[in-house]
Amino acid sequence: MQFRLQKKRLKKKIIKIEYPIGMFKKKNYIHKALPFPIRASHREYSMIASTHDDPSIPTSSLINLSLKAVEQAALMDLQEVALRMKNPPYFPNIWPGEHYKFLSGLVKVLAPKVIVEIGTATGTSALSMKKTLSRDGKIATFDITSWQNYEDTLLKEKDFSDNRLVQYTDNLFYYENVEKHKNLLQSADLIFIDATHDGVLEEKIMQHFQKLTFENPPILIFDDIRVWTMLKMWRNIKHPKLDLTSFGHWSGTGIVQWTPQKAHLK
Ligand SMILES: C[S@@+](CC[C@H](N)C(=O)[O-])C[C@H]1O[C@@H](n2cnc3c(N)ncnc32)[C@H](O)[C@@H]1O
Repeated sequence: MQFRLQKKRLKKKIIKIEYPIGMFKKKNYIHKALPFPIRASHREYSMIASTHDDPSIPTSSLINLSLKAVEQAALMDLQEVALRMKNPPYFPNIWPGEHYKFLSGLVKVLAPKVIVEIGTATGTSALSMKKTLSRDGKIATFDITSWQNYEDTLLKEKDFSDNRLVQYTDNLFYYENVEKHKNLLQSADLIFIDATHDGVLEEKIMQHFQKLTFENPPILIFDDIRVWTMLKMWRNIKHPKLDLTSFGHWSGTGIVQWTPQKAHLK
């Protein structure tokens, strides 16, 4: 290992400390100040906060819906989705910890006619939701890149052949694309937002949704709500909401009941 010498002033004495080269890169400052206290294959910084001063408490109907979805998740078998994966970990089979069984359970209980997904990627969540989608239901999944560009995609052409699963490669960050799909978006019963997780896209999408008139106020699911960049966005949501992380994705799963007329941001 290469070292570089750093002079450090400590109690008026100059001392020389040897640090591995690279330690002064920006991200290492954070890791040095706040070392991870646990080992895991994937770790993220997060923060916990009181809820009594967050007025967006869940309604009893949102709590009931969530409880029923969790009940269904516990019974769910997503082996057919997991079998499409080439290598472990087989995420669709992992629950709690991963959100696929919860999504499938929620679709079973909510029986949405129109699901909008933002973030297709390999199609794991789309396939998990399609498993319990009613015969007359439809999933419109958005991504900025086609599913065919993912080498490890779980999707096949035949998944789209019944027209119950459709992909659009339009970026909903831009309102012109929201306008383009206005009728579809306004008909959504369930919206799953699993894209950049930077809090910026998610806030923008919520602002766009404020301009829509939903036919039936939809249920929204946000992935990664416990990740640092998503904390502010989640806290600022002013619709009834519930953190379901223990029954969804370890990085945070939030459920929101869209309520018309309410400004969602402070
Ligand atoms: C975490 S992955 C989605 C995972 C997927 N939902 C699943 O569980 O299988 C995030 C995806 O969001 C896509 N994405 C990034 N920005 C986006 C945007 N503005 N609109 C739609 N999708 C976006 C990325 O290309 C990526 O495929």
